[in-house]
Amino acid sequence: MSLLAALARRYGTPLYVYSADIVREHYRIWRESFTRPALVCYALKANSCRAVAAVLAREGAGADIVSGGELRRACAAGFAPARIVFSGVGKSEEEMAAGLRAGVKAFNVESSDELDALARVAGRLGLRAPVSVRLNPDIDARTHPHIATGRADNKFGVEIAEARALYRRAARDHRLRVTGVQCHIGSQITSAAPYRRAAVAVAALAKSLKRGGIALGFADMGGGFGIRYKDETPLEPEALVKTLEEAFAEQPELELLIEPGRSLVADAGLLLTKVLYRKQTSKRRFVVVDGAMTDLPRPALYGAWHPMEVVAPRRGKKTMADVVGPVCESGDFLARRRLLPPLERGDLLAVLKAGAYGFAMSSQYNSRPRAAEALVDGGKARLVRRRETDRDLTRGEL
Ligand code: LLP
Repeated sequence: MSLLAALARRYGTPLYVYSADIVREHYRIWRESFTRPALVCYALKANSCRAVAAVLAREGAGADIVSGGELRRACAAGFAPARIVFSGVGKSEEEMAAGLRAGVKAFNVESSDELDALARVAGRLGLRAPVSVRLNPDIDARTHPHIATGRADNKFGVEIAEARALYRRAARDHRLRVTGVQCHIGSQITSAAPYRRAAVAVAALAKSLKRGGIALGFADMGGGFGIRYKDETPLEPEALVKTLEEAFAEQPELELLIEPGRSLVADAGLLLTKVLYRKQTSKRRFVVVDGAMTDLPRPALYGAWHPMEVVAPRRGKKTMADVVGPVCESGDFLARRRLLPPLERGDLLAVLKAGAYGFAMSSQYNSRPRAAEALVDGGKARLVRRRETDRDLTRGEL
């Protein structure tokens, strides 16, 4: 029996299965692409499972977090706080205080109000807050509109003139310490050109700040590096890093940071789901499985295409089918018009490249307990998150 079939039998379905080896391999490729001081900060939002994050923490990665919850998860997974950058357009004062107490490397500040709040919280705690401003360079990364972040009509970052003003203010405020600059233009980006333009803008800002007496310690170019789901040509880490290093060639004093999420973990995970029922209408062949948009919302949310394989395919003619979940919405599908072999009840399907923004975006909609997660490391598999139970659904209700 294959490993996947054995795991499905042992832990049930739907089940996420991750490979620690693949996570490590991707991390090392990014890490080793740099030829100057650099830090690869794993964007925890892609997959915040502690066991997966711990693989990266043990490799020496930094972390990019966006909430107090992710701060706790990052610390629990073993990331050194001095390697954690705190991003996000709406950090609460409580989250800022938690980040300050933990001693994070930087707060990526996204508005004037936020800078005020950060200074206030730092003053209250008697600490100095490390500040890096998130620049919005108004660059079109040509990606799905829901995950584009680098245009002036997106809520993220501040435009260049305001960035300069925030740095001047931060430099004068004894409660703040200017540390770096950050920029993240979007996600699932497959061309180097927008990164080059963004890096040139960030490098120019750092240079002009230095002329004005404000020296930065790092430049963080964010994440967003696209992968191949279907037929995309993803960026080669080495080529992309070269692009970044070239843009900062005249500023060897800057440590370079990146914040990859998807490109570290997407390939390392799959969602295992079981065929519940088959049905044929006059128009379509449907395969109803036990995994749903609640487990992997990307297809429903973005029309995303994930590769899908039958674990033990039967012989016979392949025909087009829609693979759908039990949720009461027609948008609940994992694949549409997919060529699949004959299937029977109980057959297993693996939805591939689901290690990023899969479980992390799952929900309990329709009162569905969330899936279990297993990690395979060095040939050994273990359960790293138990399947939720009905009691988890009502926990906290009064
Ligand atoms: N840094 C910042 C500030 C971010 O906002 C993000 C992602 C990343 C890094 C990591 O981006 P990555 O390397 O993973 O592309 N749920 C969507 C993706 C949302 C990305 C949000 N921000 C999806 O499933 O495609």
